[in-house]
Amino acid sequence: MSLLELPLFDGVDAVDLADLADALRPRRLEAGEVLMAEGTAAEIFAIVESGEAVVHTSRDGDTVELARLGRGDIVGELGLLIDGTRTSSVAATSDLDVLVGDLDAFEALLAVPTVRSRLQLIVSRRLAVNARPVPIELRDGTTVLVRPLLPTDRERHHEAVWSASAETLRFRFFTSARPSRRILDYLIDIDYVDHFAWICLSTDDEGIGIIRYVQPRERPDEVEVAFGTDEGWQRRGIATMLLGAIGVAAEEAGYPELVGYYVNDNHGSEALFQKVGARFARSEPGVREARVAVDAAVALLGSSDAEALRATVADIVTAGGLALTDAGTPPDVPVDPLP
Ligand SMILES: CC(C)(COP(=O)(O)OP(=O)(O)OC[C@H]1O[C@@H](n2cnc3c(N)ncnc32)[C@H](O)[C@@H]1OP(=O)(O)O)[C@@H](O)C(=O)NCCC(=O)NCCS
Repeated sequence: MSLLELPLFDGVDAVDLADLADALRPRRLEAGEVLMAEGTAAEIFAIVESGEAVVHTSRDGDTVELARLGRGDIVGELGLLIDGTRTSSVAATSDLDVLVGDLDAFEALLAVPTVRSRLQLIVSRRLAVNARPVPIELRDGTTVLVRPLLPTDRERHHEAVWSASAETLRFRFFTSARPSRRILDYLIDIDYVDHFAWICLSTDDEGIGIIRYVQPRERPDEVEVAFGTDEGWQRRGIATMLLGAIGVAAEEAGYPELVGYYVNDNHGSEALFQKVGARFARSEPGVREARVAVDAAVALLGSSDAEALRATVADIVTAGGLALTDAGTPPDVPVDPLP
């Protein structure tokens, strides 16, 4: 089978895949056979040609399924990029045909710009799914959990926005009209590199706050921040903590400043930006701009919370280092300014 038939290589010139094709070796496994084992050295990656496999990891003594793989999926690339040890196992669940590559083949894969940017997205999303929520104590002693926003948060995210009050919608979207599903999907289907978001959850797994940054293409040195706290959880320090958390993500991604926009009568946002020493300016009529130094945002957090969030997010926002060394290669995913 030609590599060009696989979605990862869709639209790529066959000439650009010659080195990669030479470096990959076919392997056939039967159902139940293990392709990669947790805890072993990560020396290969594999691309599924046909058949199915499961990815699982052990957590607190239990086996947790992380993903199901099928035709065209790539697996094992995280170990090659990040720490060199497998953090999960991959086993065939049917007859499985894979193309297996070593580090040289991986280099050949990354040398194809389109494939590299697709891989960046796959790596960031996988790391986000694998991230463990970080427990953080609010000032009243309540513990909340913070983790990257995931596609599985879609329905609760949309419901929370659609059921918010007219004033909250106006503060958040600058209009009290309910945003369409298309806009809300854009806020969920993020690439974690140019568009990153944290969600804050109660210990009952209720979504209670969100913060994101988006890197506007026309202003490459800054990121635009937007946030919201569930109406039942406001004035308990959640937005303050999340501003610190997004500061950690921006710092790891290499952005020195966060820019926020809010309507003039949004006193909560104004108080938050004042608290963090923002520089204020007028924006369009009725809207103010606040510029926050990333280190001032991070300083809103206790040092152990900042460290825990940093450990969670560093590889995600850099796609395991792929994004940082990827200068000049535009990502496949369109990144629009915030609505
Ligand atoms: C603005 C908003 C995010 C604040 O969330 P929060 O979790 O209540 O914020 P915090 O508890 O961290 O409060 C931050 C500071 O703002 C102050 N504050 C919060 N709400 C306030 C209000 N309505 N009026 C005046 N001050 C307010 C707090 O007192 C706090 O200061 P303090 O720590 O010195 O007491 C929240 O009101 C909200 O979700 N609004 C709708 C969406 C929105 O406005 N998003 C921002 C634009 S994208």
